[in-house]
Amino acid sequence: MPDTLDRTIRFGSNSGQPMTRRDGIAKVTGAATFTADNTPDNVLHAVYVPATIARGRVTSLDVAAAEAHPGVTHVLTPANRPHLHGDPEAKPTMFSFRIEVLQDDTVRYAGQPVAMVLGETLEAATEGARLLAPTYEMAPPRVDLDRAEPYDVEPGGFGRPTGASHGDIDAGHRAAVKSVDVTYSTAPQYHNAMETHAIVAAWDGDKLHLDVPTQALSMSCAAYASFFDIPVENVTINSPYLGGGFGSKAVPIGPNILAILAARMTGRPVKLMLTRQQMFGPTGHRGATRQRLRLGIDEDASLTVIDHDSLSETSSFDDFHEPAAGASQGLYAAGALRSVHRGARLDIGTPGAMRAPGEASGSAALECAMDEMAEAAGMDPLEFRLKNYAETEPGTGRPYSSKALRDCYLQGAERFGWAGRPLAPRQMRDENGLLTGWGMGTALFPCPMFMAEARATLRADGSALFETSAVDMGQGALTALAQIAADSLGLPVDNVEFRAGHSSLPDGGVAGGSGHTATAGGALHAAGSDVIRQLGEMAAADPASPLHGAGNASFVARHGRLYVDGDDSRSEPFADILSRAGGADLVGSGSASRPPETAAQYAMYSHGAVFAEVKVDPDLCQVQVTRLVGAFAAGRIINPKLADSQLLGGLIWGISFALHEEAHHDPVTGRIVNADFAGYHVPVNADVRGLEVLTVHEDDPHVNLLGIKGVGEIGIVGTVGAIGNAIWHATGHRIRRFPIRIEDLLKA
Ligand code: MOS
Repeated sequence: MPDTLDRTIRFGSNSGQPMTRRDGIAKVTGAATFTADNTPDNVLHAVYVPATIARGRVTSLDVAAAEAHPGVTHVLTPANRPHLHGDPEAKPTMFSFRIEVLQDDTVRYAGQPVAMVLGETLEAATEGARLLAPTYEMAPPRVDLDRAEPYDVEPGGFGRPTGASHGDIDAGHRAAVKSVDVTYSTAPQYHNAMETHAIVAAWDGDKLHLDVPTQALSMSCAAYASFFDIPVENVTINSPYLGGGFGSKAVPIGPNILAILAARMTGRPVKLMLTRQQMFGPTGHRGATRQRLRLGIDEDASLTVIDHDSLSETSSFDDFHEPAAGASQGLYAAGALRSVHRGARLDIGTPGAMRAPGEASGSAALECAMDEMAEAAGMDPLEFRLKNYAETEPGTGRPYSSKALRDCYLQGAERFGWAGRPLAPRQMRDENGLLTGWGMGTALFPCPMFMAEARATLRADGSALFETSAVDMGQGALTALAQIAADSLGLPVDNVEFRAGHSSLPDGGVAGGSGHTATAGGALHAAGSDVIRQLGEMAAADPASPLHGAGNASFVARHGRLYVDGDDSRSEPFADILSRAGGADLVGSGSASRPPETAAQYAMYSHGAVFAEVKVDPDLCQVQVTRLVGAFAAGRIINPKLADSQLLGGLIWGISFALHEEAHHDPVTGRIVNADFAGYHVPVNADVRGLEVLTVHEDDPHVNLLGIKGVGEIGIVGTVGAIGNAIWHATGHRIRRFPIRIEDLLKA
């Protein structure tokens, strides 16, 4: 890969290569151990009882029946639950949520744990939990967003999005010669990673050992330590592999705290694994939204205003509001921009971050509204977006750190064959008479960086070890990060051992926000550079080295040798430098985060353009997404194979959002009636046809030292709108709710 980006650092031959996952064989052969694969000696199995009502209180539990069951050892209820140091109702950090750990008999949502049974076997604990047979005093549940009382979301931390307003909104509305005023709905969605939440907790005195999948090892250690009033260094977390996270495994959940409490109470290791049904309740979800978009254009089809008002559900006891209206702030050049967030309290578990929080839901509404605006303008949707292309961040006027969105539009359109699309809907049929439509959407997602640290050890034999508590939740971090690490020392990746996924390692930060490769990768690169710097000092000071006296030069590493920068005639193998120095390991450390001044100076986003083809049966209204082409610009791509895999996964989730996923509440009890994979639909292979991903070349000198923007989330953004717009183009019907169902089209 040509290294056109390089201003401050050099990349070796590993980055840019489509390497296969290093953990792939371990995973497909079952050698990779996930939390649920750990069953320590003397373990107790925990099964909790989820509430089957959404609001009220527990009036009885048949503890005697459960305790009498063979193999049941303990029954944990609010009546006997031991003291917990941390207040589950407190919010000690801005990322904390209130959780349910049997603090009282109140039921705040269906699926809330109301008791936990421990047993010698999983079967005994399961049967014991069934025998508890709770009875309830039920209050009418509030589960309908359309009947809830909205309030203004007060900004002030995670899950309480800030509103924003730039320019004269009223003037923008008045200046419009054409406008749209539309409301789009999105449904509640639940994270359904392949691996459900699980934990194996064991105490050794006041030391706590956890096997638990987490997207954030050190943050989790701190949270668990504070709940149990032990020093953070007393908590170790082993989290080598996650079977998916999607945001749900970023913060500790109530059931995990209960399992740890149970382990302390019994003096035995405790293992808990949530069932699929239990994933609908205490583990976060993507909250439903109702988004009103008012757009206006002038004679010239330039946007005079984007006015985006998002109402989102949250729980009765905590705040997480989908930051959906924020999606309108970074994208189109409009004379005036406003984002407003309103909330409504329902008897549901607290929502949380779920893959592309904010942008996934927000762009679904925005991109459809843009399509409606283009229709009103009599313009091709792509032409309309290009007309309103933002060269600087709308509102703030800040430059983009880089923005290859125009290339995404043009290359994606070319690949898809967008030219020749009829402007009017319901013009195309395929050879089988199916209505055919083409739609598009724009994607954007911010490029956050967090904080990470890493350690690099160069060994006398020329191999290296890199360590950081990074997280591979399936995205391929163990591979992409090893590629960056190897490049920092100029070694082939096979000479690099990479340790991650354990809290004893340097803090690898958070796998979230699409920022993990940039952040942990930056730390690894810095650690490798520290080794090279030290190695250079050693060689320059050593009269026996060909590099002797080059102390003022900088050094670079290639193929296991150290070179004077710019002078290929002077070099020496690492192993020789180290062996003359006694053969000891050379250890370097590094960290990465974004300097606040860069963050303030530039607007930083990944971008993309998604083109969709759908076919709709004119009589049955069945929808098939027959083609999706996504073109994305996300800075430097470390591993094209894994990046494509992330982007394809995003496109597939876009299909899921547009056509499948929706949790339904029973209006009487408030339960989610489709809390399993029979009733909660996600796309299967038959739903996924021709998908194609292009990554557009993009050099970003500002976003971070490595030029990485991240690819974990952007694939879902834009896709939902593209599919909705394609359905309109096929049928002539605007369906303003997601998922779009057969009955919506039949009624249209
Ligand atoms: Mo993510 S929703 O930042 O794991």
